[in-house]
Amino acid sequence: MIRPGEYISDILTRPVGTDLVAHGWVKTRRDSKGISFVQMSDGSSFTDLQVVIEAGTIDSNTLEMITTGACVEFTGTLVESPAAGQPVELRASSVVVHGPAAPASYPLQKKGHTMEFLREIAHLRPRSNTFGAVFRVRNALSYAIHRFFQDRGFAYIHTPIITTSDCEGAGALFGVTTLDLMAVPRLPDGGVDFAQDFFGKAAYLAVSGQLEAEILALAMANVYTFGPTFRAENSNTPRHLAEFWMVEPEMAFCDLDDDVALAQEFLQYIIRYVLDTCPSDLAFFNKRIEPTVIETLEHVAQADFERITYTEAVNLLAASGRSWEFPVEWGSDLQAEHERYLTEEVFRRPVVVTDYPRQIKAFYMRVNDDGRTVRAMDVLVPRIGEIIGGSQREERADVLRNRLAECGLPEDSYWWYLQLREFGTVAHAGFGLGVERMMMYLTGMKNIRDVIAFPRTPGSAEF
Ligand code: 4AD
Ligand code: MG
Repeated sequence: MIRPGEYISDILTRPVGTDLVAHGWVKTRRDSKGISFVQMSDGSSFTDLQVVIEAGTIDSNTLEMITTGACVEFTGTLVESPAAGQPVELRASSVVVHGPAAPASYPLQKKGHTMEFLREIAHLRPRSNTFGAVFRVRNALSYAIHRFFQDRGFAYIHTPIITTSDCEGAGALFGVTTLDLMAVPRLPDGGVDFAQDFFGKAAYLAVSGQLEAEILALAMANVYTFGPTFRAENSNTPRHLAEFWMVEPEMAFCDLDDDVALAQEFLQYIIRYVLDTCPSDLAFFNKRIEPTVIETLEHVAQADFERITYTEAVNLLAASGRSWEFPVEWGSDLQAEHERYLTEEVFRRPVVVTDYPRQIKAFYMRVNDDGRTVRAMDVLVPRIGEIIGGSQREERADVLRNRLAECGLPEDSYWWYLQLREFGTVAHAGFGLGVERMMMYLTGMKNIRDVIAFPRTPGSAEF
């Protein structure tokens, strides 16, 4: 097992003269005048370890097995490196080839592959420079998320993945059943008799952990969930997954203004953390993927977000003189083209849009005094559009009952959600950050399939 101190990231910081063992996967081998140069990576840093094998050190049969993709272990001594970009290199004295990789058939070559091709080899793409960087940034992002909330006293809670309530009402649910699909039990009216199913009623994969997070927030004040969520949206876009990760904080004694303030502080914190901990990975993204990434992140980490209401947003869009694919009128939801126009062209920074029409938002959002709008907030950022969705929750039992009815949701399915409003209710609010959307923002990667190791999208769940 590789132990701390033995990762290539550590090895690159150690003094010349150190004897050590290094493990990893070969990126390339190049031979010149009897000397072989091997670039090797173990995923711990963007910079590879260069290994120098002098003539006669290793027998030629073994040397021939050190090809791109092979897993190897070198013993040797660190020497000063004449090559640019690396302080030291390893002069090998011996090698163990754990797993050769037949050069004729190893699919991942040094030449630039397309992202589409790399998706087809998701079992090997983590060994590429791009995906090594993606997964290191994703790890840093995950850690920063926990650190932010833990430092502020939030309790990390775990909400169920199987649920019987539809939180977002978007109608994009994956069913969970053990019924025999060849012989589904039927009700007299022809519907499915879910009473005979595993849970005694219809069950689904969760689209959000929010409703259960509210239960915990109304006992522990500040909580957050961080886990996978599932939406069977049949939308093949570069920003939708069927399985994605969401962070959802939920705060009691909190209104929409507090919610917006926390969302800004949170985004700025994780951006700062990733800028500080992953400089080489971000430099790579900036150079090869999106030339504005670092500049944008540096700016966003310290500038205040813009805040407008939905009504103001609609007025700006109507006054833009653009011809939109989706027409803009008060009462219709903002589409990606509208979101991006606001954040990329009007304000050129993150924009928080609040107070959406009640008929386009979920039943649980607090109704404003005007009766027409709800205390919703979406955070929009350049290149991505919506990255966060949140709201102040409806804490008044009578108003909530009306909203359930209006949305066609049966009260008895939400009995516990209503009881929370009858026993010790208080103003509370929260939001959800899509982790993959955040990853796209941090890295400049253009397709959401390329910031998660094993993307699930319509027609695709191979790995
Ligand atoms: O706006 P959404 O639907 O909000 C909720 O689910 C609330 N229950 C959150 C809360 O208040 N606790 O989703 C939140 C975020 C979106 O802003 C977006 O970043 C991401 O989740 N998201 C998706 N990411 C990838 N693929 C999808 N299909 C996504 N749907 C939403
Ligand atoms: Mg949303």
